[in-house]
Amino acid sequence: MEEKESVEIYLNSSEETLKLGEIIGKSLNPGSIIALVGDLGAGKTVFVKGLAKGLGVEEEPNSPTFVIMNAYLGRMPLYHFDLYRLSDEDELLGIGYDEYFFGSGVSAVEWADRVSGIFPDHTIKIEIKIPESDSEDSVTQRIVKIEGNKKWVSSFKNTVEQVFPA
Ligand SMILES: Nc1ncnc2c1ncn2[C@@H]1O[C@H](COP(=O)(O)OP(=O)(O)OP(=O)(O)O)[C@@H](O)[C@H]1O
Ligand SMILES: [Mg+2]
Repeated sequence: MEEKESVEIYLNSSEETLKLGEIIGKSLNPGSIIALVGDLGAGKTVFVKGLAKGLGVEEEPNSPTFVIMNAYLGRMPLYHFDLYRLSDEDELLGIGYDEYFFGSGVSAVEWADRVSGIFPDHTIKIEIKIPESDSEDSVTQRIVKIEGNKKWVSSFKNTVEQVFPA
């Protein structure tokens, strides 16, 4: 088991979520897996768009409706999974998800909490929450918790805390 660390970031707009995705995207390595969790409209896809930018993908990922996975090519492949409509784990096995997870690209998985037991120990967990508040600002505020390998988190923690002060 790897030593884990987590960081919590407060964001104020979609642009900031995009930017965070880009910073994270730049820090990823072949074989990185990102498990994204958050309610409908939390900003998981916005985050993946940023991730793609950070990975040098020129195309802009969209929510892959009726498709479990879309692949993009940047400085390495990006496999964008959306498990919202997944019926069961067999469907994932059917598309050979493990070829992507354990290949040399980056996998980003929306609705990762729909499946259990498929994520290896080195998976980076990202939870996006919409804060409970009635103020107008809160509509675009998000709290993002990133958990991953201690060394990896330490490598961008300072940058992220400077770009997005609490
Ligand atoms: N800080 C923010 N970060 C991300 N999105 C935001 C933010 N503030 C407002 N939004 C809006 O919330 C929506 C997020 O949509 P997005 O498709 O990324 O969510 P999602 O988590 O992928 O939802 P789904 O579960 O349907 O896939 C967009 O319309 C975006 O403009
Ligand atoms: Mg989405």
